[in-house]
Amino acid sequence: MSRNPLIVAADLSGADHAELLARRLSGLVAYVKVGLELFTATGPAVVERIRALAPVFLDLKLHDIPTTVGRAARNLARLGPELLTVHALGGTEMIEAAVDGAAKGAAEAGLEPPAIIAVTVLSSLAGEGLASPASLAFEAIAAGASGAVVSGQDVAEVREAVGPVATLVVPGIRPGGQPANDHVRVLSPGEALERGADFIVIGRPITGSEDPAAAARALLREVGMG
Ligand code: C5P
Repeated sequence: MSRNPLIVAADLSGADHAELLARRLSGLVAYVKVGLELFTATGPAVVERIRALAPVFLDLKLHDIPTTVGRAARNLARLGPELLTVHALGGTEMIEAAVDGAAKGAAEAGLEPPAIIAVTVLSSLAGEGLASPASLAFEAIAAGASGAVVSGQDVAEVREAVGPVATLVVPGIRPGGQPANDHVRVLSPGEALERGADFIVIGRPITGSEDPAAAARALLREVGMG
């Protein structure tokens, strides 16, 4: 494997804590994920602080009318994330607006635009009769998204549907021997990558470790990158 597949979820409520985590993980991870918990606690500036240390996956799962999502994506792209999530269920026009807005915002800031990544189905809603993850991902990518967030259960089927180029991100990952926490089903890092993931999202097993850098290194060794 040539590319680092590790995304660490900085699910924390303090900017200093998140910055320290990013500093420790700098050079060891593909992205640090800034989600709603951290963003709402600290505000947009946290993206710029973390970006100085590691590429940022900004996971705000935007879902609104196209105009609103387009304007929000434009604002967020000025902060310099490399990946930005929207909900696939927002539909084609909303995803097109996110792609356009992000391109505008990045250009205004003299930055590369973030890749728009569509969240397919939240694991908390699985089995409630929503559209299939494979068709949601396929339609989002047709509308200009660069990839999708999918569960470990769905990733093989989604990869089959979207082809080799799309970026697939899989959360709910546990390294060998780690507790599942609140996930009903977990995959190991190796299983997720074998099934077609490009990136795996891991939070608590790394953020809760006394030595997050050592935990990240152990995980990379587990997938043959150490
Ligand atoms: O701590 P843990 O590894 O469980 O963190 C997983 C991260 O992935 C969290 O940021 C969570 O919001 C996110 N996530 C998830 N399951 C999904 C979608 C996202 O665990 N289906």
